[in-house]
Amino acid sequence: MDPRHIPVLLSETIEGLSLVPGDNAVDCTVGAGGHAEAILDRTSPDGRLLGFDLDEAALDAARSNLARFGSRAMLVCENYKDAGRVLQTFAFGPVHAALLDLGFSSIEIDDPARGFSFRADGPLDMRYDAKQALTAAEIVNGWSLDELAKILWDYGEERLARKIAAGIVQARRDARIVGTLQLVDVIAHSVPAYYRRGKIHFATRTFQALRIATNDELGNLRAALPALLDMLAPGGRLAVISFHSLEDRIVKRFFQEQLKEKKVSLRTKRPIIASAEEIKSNSRSRSAKLRIAIKI
Ligand SMILES: C[S@@+](CC[C@H](N)C(=O)[O-])C[C@H]1O[C@@H](n2cnc3c(N)ncnc32)[C@H](O)[C@@H]1O
Repeated sequence: MDPRHIPVLLSETIEGLSLVPGDNAVDCTVGAGGHAEAILDRTSPDGRLLGFDLDEAALDAARSNLARFGSRAMLVCENYKDAGRVLQTFAFGPVHAALLDLGFSSIEIDDPARGFSFRADGPLDMRYDAKQALTAAEIVNGWSLDELAKILWDYGEERLARKIAAGIVQARRDARIVGTLQLVDVIAHSVPAYYRRGKIHFATRTFQALRIATNDELGNLRAALPALLDMLAPGGRLAVISFHSLEDRIVKRFFQEQLKEKKVSLRTKRPIIASAEEIKSNSRSRSAKLRIAIKI
């Protein structure tokens, strides 16, 4: 298995999906294929998996990591919000399990050229999909003060949103902001000293907000949840792993609405979180929350 992305909550997800031999599964965010590999093992000998990712680098890793499953693993470079349409073109048959493991993979954050990390210098890109026109640099240099402040507030839950947005607008008058560390420097000059010494890095929330906005992450999630539920066979399981409260809130509300309408039962009344052991070996799992619903 490619060592560059450790799948989070792996055994909890696989157990929670109650997979049996022959089940068909959709992995909406296949990444390097860590969860997909465990799903394909559980659904042996003939269960099929359709894996989505927008990122060709992730799909390359998945292709090599899942090669031993041959035609049981089908991988597509598509947005998971279009899963319904894509599934029809594949004549995939009944779907027994679907997984959304949200956000970015280590393949993406660890590559400075992708621009996701505020710890290494790179272009302000942050796209999962290299074919997409909008980059983080376009947002930083092109959006108005109000628009910037709004995404920092809404998607970053950044309480200094307006200060940072104003700092960006001021700085870009002198020169276009094109690099990750250049943006970190702008943020450093926009916030008070106490904030620069805070427990979490002062650029964390701005980078999160830009990543979410660049990739319309919350819009994709909102669109995908009803589509995924539609596409599941009765009794099919939908598992979602989220990494921050904005995502988890959307999932929790959606599941509760569907529960009220008697369209699902909940396997997880409260989200499953990582064990102390997992957090120790993979710090990314610290914020992970797994929720699972079963279609009625
Ligand atoms: C957390 S990683 C998944 C890791 C995977 N479960 C594994 O075990 O290797 C999330 C993946 O979702 C992809 N992604 C993000 N938004 C997407 C979207 N709207 N459609 C398809 N893939 C998306 C990212 O490129 C990334 O590879």
